[in-house]
Amino acid sequence: LNHMAAEDVRDETFADASPASRQRDGAFFAIRGLGTLPPVVPAPMAGYGDRAWREIIRRMGCRLVVVPMVSAEGLARGDRKTLGLLDIEGEIAPVVVQIFGSRPEGLAEAARRLESLGVSGVDLNFGCPARRVAAHGGGAAVLKNPALLADLVGAVRRAVALPLTVKMRAGWDESAPGVEELVRVAEGEGADAIALHARTGKQMFTGEADWDRIAEAKRAATVPIIGNGDIRSGEDALRMMRLTGCDAVMIGRAALGNPWLFAEALDRLGALGRSGESSRQPSPDERLEMMLEHARLAARWKGEVRGIVEFRKHAVCYVRGLRGAKHLRQALVSCSTLSEVERAVESYRRRAGGVIR
Ligand SMILES: Cc1cc2nc3c(=O)[nH]c(=O)nc-3n(C[C@H](O)[C@H](O)[C@H](O)COP(=O)(O)O)c2cc1C
Repeated sequence: LNHMAAEDVRDETFADASPASRQRDGAFFAIRGLGTLPPVVPAPMAGYGDRAWREIIRRMGCRLVVVPMVSAEGLARGDRKTLGLLDIEGEIAPVVVQIFGSRPEGLAEAARRLESLGVSGVDLNFGCPARRVAAHGGGAAVLKNPALLADLVGAVRRAVALPLTVKMRAGWDESAPGVEELVRVAEGEGADAIALHARTGKQMFTGEADWDRIAEAKRAATVPIIGNGDIRSGEDALRMMRLTGCDAVMIGRAALGNPWLFAEALDRLGALGRSGESSRQPSPDERLEMMLEHARLAARWKGEVRGIVEFRKHAVCYVRGLRGAKHLRQALVSCSTLSEVERAVESYRRRAGGVIR
């Protein structure tokens, strides 16, 4: 599969999303208002999940993409910088926008604004453990208090008719409230799907995700559960689904520099509409080509200098593990134009003696 052109991957995937084929392909799942979706969903990642990234991963079979972490209060105020994070004009639907906040009225007003902007859905962030967010009572800190969780989800539900999803962790810490209660509250207040990152807020990114918590969420919920945490391969995606019964999997970090992982996971879950395809890792040369394409998109959507400077952290991911790439890496972390990126790649290829395999 990985040798297929990106466009082919997309066609293969979406060809099967038509109503007639839904019954045929049991791997797909549905979220109220968002229709039938492939069972692999990209994780929202602040600082990475911009328009260029969303375009790249759509070519890899992702359909439901999300703009990460927009401040509800900023949106509600109509703050220009916050609105600037919403680089969604003319983007292919569905595009969901994730908001965070700790005031019901702030979240509700933000959701109304998003509805008037024509977004496909709203996702509420109850997973971010960063002090900047949690210290203000938003993100994962909400999970300490089921009554607040209920107020926040309920306020958005009453404010808009849009599909409403929730992304949460497996509680704030090991003490109550646990997954079962939190899932029931979110669903009871009108969440249409719940993505669960199977770590607690307090854990930040340490330790391992505890997939048993995903199984627990699945048992407690009637809406779709999207399992998340530590998927690094198509095999992992399949294993999570089998172990937890979740409806879809969400992949974050492991796809950075390796967007092929989405297609690989879809393939493994039988959702690419092709059987018997063997997935393989992209060659180093394919990775460099993808990186260049990503850089071009970043420059297109953000303007060249800002686009490329913000692209640097993606660039580093693309060259991770590439042989003899020390100079290339050094050049990439200081480039600020597209031609600098291109020259860095050319020079690496020259040093490696032509085509890299
Ligand atoms: C750099 C980075 C940024 C993230 N930003 C967000 C975010 O904006 N919203 C959110 O809900 N989760 C965010 N997360 C958490 C991921 O969505 C995901 O839950 C987590 O990385 C676990 O999945 P993974 O093991 O597949 O990476 C972020 C994670 C990382 C590493």
